[in-house]
Amino acid sequence: AETIILDTDPGIDDAMAIMYVLANKHLKLMGITTVFGNATIEDTTRNALFIKDKFNASFDVACGAAAPLIKTPNGPTVIVHGEHGLGSVVADAPKSVAEEETAWQYMAKKITANPGEITLVAVGPLTNLALLVQNAPEAVSLVKNVVIMGGAFGENGHRGNVSPVAEANVHDDPHAANIVFAANWPVVVIGLDVTHEIACEEHYIETLRDHAGEKGRFIYDVSQFYLGFYETELKRKACYLHDPAALVYVSRPELFELREGPIVVVEEGGAEGMTIQKTESRVFSNDAWEQRPSQSVAISVDSEAVLNHFSDTL
Ligand code: BDR
Ligand code: CA
Repeated sequence: AETIILDTDPGIDDAMAIMYVLANKHLKLMGITTVFGNATIEDTTRNALFIKDKFNASFDVACGAAAPLIKTPNGPTVIVHGEHGLGSVVADAPKSVAEEETAWQYMAKKITANPGEITLVAVGPLTNLALLVQNAPEAVSLVKNVVIMGGAFGENGHRGNVSPVAEANVHDDPHAANIVFAANWPVVVIGLDVTHEIACEEHYIETLRDHAGEKGRFIYDVSQFYLGFYETELKRKACYLHDPAALVYVSRPELFELREGPIVVVEEGGAEGMTIQKTESRVFSNDAWEQRPSQSVAISVDSEAVLNHFSDTL
C-alpha cells in the first residue's frame, strides 16, 4: 500500500477525499495535517478529529498553519463550504486530540523516519508544505511523491474558480505554492483542468448514500450544501470531485495524462494565484522558469473511469 500524509482543509470535498482514502485498501493514511482555507484552522482541525472519531480511524492529526506566509488571508469560503467547513453538518466536540507537533514538524518527523516511502497529498493552501521546505529542507529529497490539488493551467478551457485565472488553493497562498513548485521533489499537479471534468450528479451522491454504508451517508450529508452552491454555477445539482481526484491519482495514475515543465505562480496583483507551466525548451533572456525543476501537470483525465473507481471503492 502507498503510505500517505494528507494535507487538507476540510472542507466538503476534502471530507469526500478522506472517505475515499479510508475505503481504499491500496492506500494507507498515516496522518492528516490541517491547514486554514475552506474554514479557519480551528474548524478544519476540529473537522479532521471529528471524522477520525466518527469512523474509528487510526490516522494521526497534526494542526498546521492558521494563515498564509505573506499575503492577507482571504478568509473562509463560507458560501462554498458552509459556516464551519462541512456544509450543514456540525462536528461534535472531538475526543481525539492533535499531535504535539505542528503540521510541518509532523511531516518532517515521519518523512525522515520513512525515507522514500511517503507520498504527500496536498488538497488545501500549500502553506504547510512550504514551511516544510523552508524549515526541514533535508526532508525534501526523502519524499516519494507530492500530489497537489491546486492551480489551473488553461487546458480544456478551465482557468480559475476564484478569479478568471486563479484556483482557490493556490490563490489562498501563492507565495507558498511558488516555494513548493520550486523545490526539488517530484510534484504532480491535479488542477481545475482535470477536476472540472469530474462532475458528479445528484443521483451519483444518492447512490453513494444508499450503497456505500456510513461513509456514503456522510458524503451525502456534507455534500448537500455544496450541491446548492454549485447549482448557481452549473444550473443543475452537481459538484466537482476536486480533492478526491488527487488521491485517485495516487491509486490509479493511468487514468490521467501528464505534461512536464517547470511551474511559476503569479504572487501579486490582479492575476495573483495564476499558475503557468513552461512547456517549450527555449531559454529566454529573462526566464523565471529556468531555475526550477520540471514538474508534472495533469492535462486530461478519464472522468468516467474516475467516477466509477471512486464509487466502486466506497
Ligand atoms: C479547492 O478549493 C477548495 O474549495 C476545495 O476544497 C479544493 O481543495 C478547489 O479549488
Ligand atoms: Ca480542499
